[in-house]
Amino acid sequence: MKNTNRLVAMLAILAGCVVFAAAALAGSGTKADPWVIGMSQCNLNEPWRTQMNADVRNAAEPLDNLKVIYQDAANDTLKQRAQIEEFIAQPVDLLIVSPKEAVPLTPPISRAYRAGIPVIVLDRRVVGQDYTCFIGADNVKIGEAAGRWIARRLAGGGNVVELKGLMTSTPAQDRHSGFLKGIKGRGDIKIVFDADMQWLEPNARKEMESALARFDKIDLVYGHNDPAAHGAWLAAKATGREKDIVFVGIDGLPQEGQAYVRQGILNVCFEYPTGGREAIETALEILKSGKAPKEMTLRSRFFTRENIDKGGEWLPEETQSKGTAPAPEGNKSK
Ligand code: FRU
Repeated sequence: MKNTNRLVAMLAILAGCVVFAAAALAGSGTKADPWVIGMSQCNLNEPWRTQMNADVRNAAEPLDNLKVIYQDAANDTLKQRAQIEEFIAQPVDLLIVSPKEAVPLTPPISRAYRAGIPVIVLDRRVVGQDYTCFIGADNVKIGEAAGRWIARRLAGGGNVVELKGLMTSTPAQDRHSGFLKGIKGRGDIKIVFDADMQWLEPNARKEMESALARFDKIDLVYGHNDPAAHGAWLAAKATGREKDIVFVGIDGLPQEGQAYVRQGILNVCFEYPTGGREAIETALEILKSGKAPKEMTLRSRFFTRENIDKGGEWLPEETQSKGTAPAPEGNKSK
């Protein structure tokens, strides 16, 4: 960055936003010469991530002044690093990355940012501040809301299985710490079994088989995503124990978590918006004006068997981490 550009960037940061002095642009934002956006997806082989890409595509397709190039790292950190390096080399005008893991994906994202390519980090975080804008829901708050819901549901205490997401990714860390906050002070709620299912349903199912084999009394499964809760339900069903257990998940896609709630598989799921549409809106803003907020926090709803026909209920914006967690309603049957 030239000195003047650096000064502009510093002033902009002080003013609460980031300005990019675009280097050599790949496109110029016209129909004939659209801006080029690189979209680095860590794993398209999961329903929530397919939805994220669909949300990006739906938002980008009507715009003829930008073009998105998609890369899928197929759940391979090294591959995702290489794909980001390729985007830097092209170069693209802007990068959207949903990184698999925080630490190993930080260096290439930082390199892109320092090379003057604006970077939007989606859903999972990286380490440090070398990116233009982070877009995602607050996983600590979601975990805490889940914890409080669980604390109310297990009024007389109970045994919990926690199926964690990949613990080298930030949503799993945050959903775990938020959950512990949510059940704080409830010594009668015991996490009798926990495992890192790496966000994948088949792993969750296997882990739940082990949990069922070891513990005669399991009252509730807290899955860090809906595939985990569903995998656990399948394992429980195979042993005829699914009706004795409450299943809690996160993601809340209409075709997945919400459908499971309607089918009576999950008791509750917490929405985790993909941010795909917001990423394209923000990208456009950055490309046009060079400005973006450093952080964009998306709101979340929760869906129970009682509220799902009304479209779920929003987690309160201000109070969700301060104690007004959603309470289980109505029909308490498992
Ligand atoms: C998909 C996914 C979602 C989860 C998100 C967290 O890879 O596991 O189910 O909510 O990633 O980053």
